Amino acid sequence: MKTVLVTGGCGFIGSHFIRCLLREESWRVVNLDKLTYAGDLDRLSDLAGEPRYRLVQGDIADAKLVEEVVVTERPWAIVNFAAESHVDRSILDPTPFLRTNVQGVHVLLDVARRYGVERFLQISTDEVYGDTDGLEPRSEEDPLRPGSPYAASKAAADLLCLAYRRTYGLPVLIARSSNNYGPYQHPEKLIPLVIRNLLVGEEVPVYGDGGQRRDWLFVEDNCRALLLLLEQGAVGAIYNIATGVRVRNLQLVQSICTVLARELDTDPAGFFDRIRFTPDRPGHDREYAVRTDRIAHTLGWRPEVELEEGLRRTVRWYLSNRDWLVKRADEEYRAYYEAVYRRKWELV
Ligand code: NAD
Ligand code: TYD
Repeated sequence: MKTVLVTGGCGFIGSHFIRCLLREESWRVVNLDKLTYAGDLDRLSDLAGEPRYRLVQGDIADAKLVEEVVVTERPWAIVNFAAESHVDRSILDPTPFLRTNVQGVHVLLDVARRYGVERFLQISTDEVYGDTDGLEPRSEEDPLRPGSPYAASKAAADLLCLAYRRTYGLPVLIARSSNNYGPYQHPEKLIPLVIRNLLVGEEVPVYGDGGQRRDWLFVEDNCRALLLLLEQGAVGAIYNIATGVRVRNLQLVQSICTVLARELDTDPAGFFDRIRFTPDRPGHDREYAVRTDRIAHTLGWRPEVELEEGLRRTVRWYLSNRDWLVKRADEEYRAYYEAVYRRKWELV
């Protein structure tokens, strides 16, 4: 049995990935998570009593702690999901993004190098390529031109990983996924935010003209790709992961209104009426587009869940888990929401 140190496993994607790993008897998981506002133990409550799973609460930027965990657990691999992950929060305050997404990654890389970890899978994002509006979809070797503080911190981490590969021979792999969605995503992100606001009777904010395009990837499709990379990916390689289908934000929001109305058996017109165009996100990237030939041709990965089906599954999950949405929309969330949507991108 191989041990994997998963960081940020109490987050949205990390928790799905841990469940995916533990479905195979050959893996044991140690989850190192700081439990920031974004981390939630509920996401893995079904693992209570699972002998192949251990949670350590702590910070990836804490070098002493990371070393202790690695010395004790001797993981075969580290899969790093831990990050500050929301662009809008990085506009309000980039500081924690630099600490976790850059310094934290450096700590992990350094400990991995010193203790001979055999795989280091860095979970990156298609946002490191920057805005692709008017450009061809990006390939893995294209230059990085991040647009937001979040994307810049993730790009810095990718460069550190590549430097550790070249300089120390660390067996690094980098996954650059497009926008994920699915059950248990925090309501700061577009899809759950729209579902929540529709359910609680609030307006639905669409930034700018709503013409921005994103490639929406169902979280389970992403996790399947990440597991393939861990097991069979080429050391030193970067892999884009996306569906290849890009949808404008306004169209996506309208689709969510339609799917939710159908599930609730109501007229979607009432939902459409709640859409409001708001001042744009500063520096908003119009589009992220990536090529996925590498993962398709070398590992045979293809997405399986089309957007309409994924939205239906996601909406159904939130309808059955309204308590979780209520819990996530806590005081901290309301203060954040106020700063972005009512004070127009100004922290108190
Ligand atoms: P998330 O915000 O839901 O979860 C992040 C997790 O990391 C939380 O559990 C949090 O407690 C933990 N964490 C934060 N700082 C930490 C620290 N210093 N030490 C230890 N744990 C810490 O994020 P997510 O949406 O699941 O994203 C996971 C990863 O995937 C991130 O690296 C993100 O950049 C990347 N990514 C996300 C998307 C997306 O659409 N969500 C797309 C592409 C890439
Ligand atoms: P988001 O889920 O924050 O992901 P990212 O910025 O990483 O792509 O946002 C997805 C898109 O939706 C992005 O173009 C910004 C836009 N958006 C809105 O129009 N309104 C909102 O309230 C939010 C959160 C996002």
